Amino acid sequence: MAQNWTPGSWRQKPIQQVPEYPDAAALAATEATLATYPPLVFAGEARRLKKQLANVAEGNAFLLQGGDCAESFLEHGADNIRDFFRAFLQMAVVLTYGAQLPVVKVGRIAGQFAKPRSSNVEVQDGVTLPSYRGDIINGIEFNEASRIPNPERQLDAYRQSAATLNLLRAFAMGGYANLENVHQWMLGFIKDSPQADRYRKLADRISETMDFMKAIGISAENNPSLRETDFFTSHEALLLGYEEALTRVDSTSGDWYATSGHMIWIGDRTRQLDHAHVEYFRGIKNPIGLKCGPSLTPDNLIELIDALNPANEAGRLTLICRFGHDKVADSLPKLIRAVEKEGRKVVWSCDPMHGNTITLNHYKTRPFERILSEVESFFQIHRAEGTHPGGIHIEMTGKDVTECTGGARAVTADSLSDRYHTHCDPRLNADQALELAFLLSERMKSGRDEKRLAIATA
Ligand code: PEP
Ligand code: CO
Repeated sequence: MAQNWTPGSWRQKPIQQVPEYPDAAALAATEATLATYPPLVFAGEARRLKKQLANVAEGNAFLLQGGDCAESFLEHGADNIRDFFRAFLQMAVVLTYGAQLPVVKVGRIAGQFAKPRSSNVEVQDGVTLPSYRGDIINGIEFNEASRIPNPERQLDAYRQSAATLNLLRAFAMGGYANLENVHQWMLGFIKDSPQADRYRKLADRISETMDFMKAIGISAENNPSLRETDFFTSHEALLLGYEEALTRVDSTSGDWYATSGHMIWIGDRTRQLDHAHVEYFRGIKNPIGLKCGPSLTPDNLIELIDALNPANEAGRLTLICRFGHDKVADSLPKLIRAVEKEGRKVVWSCDPMHGNTITLNHYKTRPFERILSEVESFFQIHRAEGTHPGGIHIEMTGKDVTECTGGARAVTADSLSDRYHTHCDPRLNADQALELAFLLSERMKSGRDEKRLAIATA
């Protein structure tokens, strides 16, 4: 076990992004209540995910991580969860085909409630109020009462996470995730897409593969891997009091696990080596993520890896790179070289969302071309360095929102106001998310074809 660590040892460290609860006794009472509630996930599941991520670290699988920037209490309906899951699974199938590798599926869901903010206050029409920090902390409505941090919200977030996870488990194991279903949904998407011709070729190859499997007797009825899927949950573990209350000893291994989700990550604003978040994360055994932004130096990164993954376990640590389309070429290669030089086992994942946010017509948005451009650079850089571009991390929804501009059915600056629903950052809508998967898949496939050709002609 990590030395001198307890689930509460983070409390002795400096901390960033901490909400000011007016009633400390009420907060402590809520945390004590949460500590009596059942865990949301089981340690054995977190270990299973860690194993799958170890495959990614070794270059034998691809990670797809995605979901809302911030889940909200208001949008907690079955339709939202279902639509997200449908879009996500379609992306996974398309990427599986493109990468010719198993895709590890991790949602930003069932716990993604707490948000770091660049300012502690928000000003509207001359009125200054505390910033919105996510539904687990305060309300988004711009009035004083709603913006005061309320500990009761942690219980609501816990219950919503439990209900969401319950439905996701049912979808994943109960037949809804059947590959034949997912394939039919994908064909529906292509039929309606302005880029239909471009995607049809890839989709036809998948259809042929499925027909071939059926012909030799492999079908969803006789093969559980075609009708069930592994699906894991993740969130930014920002609100450490909540996380501590759900940190439990696993009875089979005697180790401490965060049981609020399978995988949790440290945000770009809270990754200081000697601060509270790194302290909390070093003691739990889950697979974890670390957001890496442009301010992270190679030395910093190696120190953080020493603290967070001292045993150099593959699958323990995913580096979620979020530099921006114009900074990735400068920032990423030096980090890769430092990690390679030190022989550290990590998963490299690309978050093409958080470095590409701009403001248009007073809306925070992200141009689809920049998102695609950052992912493409990420792939090219890894190819040049001889390392594995392990995965992508995106903010997306299954709904037809207008939050990011561009895409085949182009969302324009003027249409942003039509269906701009996010509680925090702009998300890809279902079509944009699937389009991104098709474009990446094409890219991965052509990379493989090049490699084959090089081998054949060598
Ligand atoms: C996020 O993932 O929503 C987020 C706030 O990211 P980052 O910490 O990379 O800014
Ligand atoms: Co975000």
